[in-house]
Amino acid sequence: MSQVHVIDHPMVQHKLTIMRDKETGSKDFRQLLEEISLLMGYEITRDLPLENKEIETPICKMTAKKVRGRKLAIVPILRAGMGMVKGIQTLVPVAKVGHIGLYRNETTHEPVVYYCKLPEDIQERLVIVTDPMLATGGSACDALKMLKERGCKNIRMMCLVAAPEGIERVQREHPDVDIYVAAIDEKLNEDAYIVPGLGDAGDRIFGTK
Ligand code: PRP
Ligand code: URA
Repeated sequence: MSQVHVIDHPMVQHKLTIMRDKETGSKDFRQLLEEISLLMGYEITRDLPLENKEIETPICKMTAKKVRGRKLAIVPILRAGMGMVKGIQTLVPVAKVGHIGLYRNETTHEPVVYYCKLPEDIQERLVIVTDPMLATGGSACDALKMLKERGCKNIRMMCLVAAPEGIERVQREHPDVDIYVAAIDEKLNEDAYIVPGLGDAGDRIFGTK
């Protein structure tokens, strides 16, 4: 069974509260999401393996540390997942970025795939899938399945707000994928929106409503 990591750092919680507020506009919403993503990225990369590297400082030679192996790939689920990319890139500028385009059918709430472009060597990388909202878990599970079909073995899911239903579904269908969230909310409503949630993340990021 995968682990669920709730990033309860006070600065993450403070910024998330401002994001949830319906009075917060797109510009601040985007900025806060980027800041939280950087802070969450710090936690999600906490256990990356290190190796030794011989270097020379201006003073002397030393054995220093560097991250071992191929590095990261960030894979946002379009559209809203895009809002979490820049924050992680600030932390890991060499990370490659793939894109998976999915939207929820408004009636059935089932995800519909419309785009997939991934780095060629993605199967050799630690993949961080980003999507601010984990509601029914349908979009996340489809994205994870697509990545596994392309050989990815080391995947982590990074969300801002999750419903218990979404977490259960990802854990059931992808027990090897750890989930990182800033908050686990109460439930889904009849439209499969997270309650209390923050509304439609894509619309709030891109100002489309
Ligand atoms: C939202 C969100 C997730 C999905 C979550 O995207 O960003 O991708 O819904 O819902 P689920 O867990 O029930 O699948 P949406 O389909 O609204 O598309 P958008 O990002 O383009 O706005
Ligand atoms: N997608 C969103 O953007 N918000 C929700 O609450 C659920 C799905």
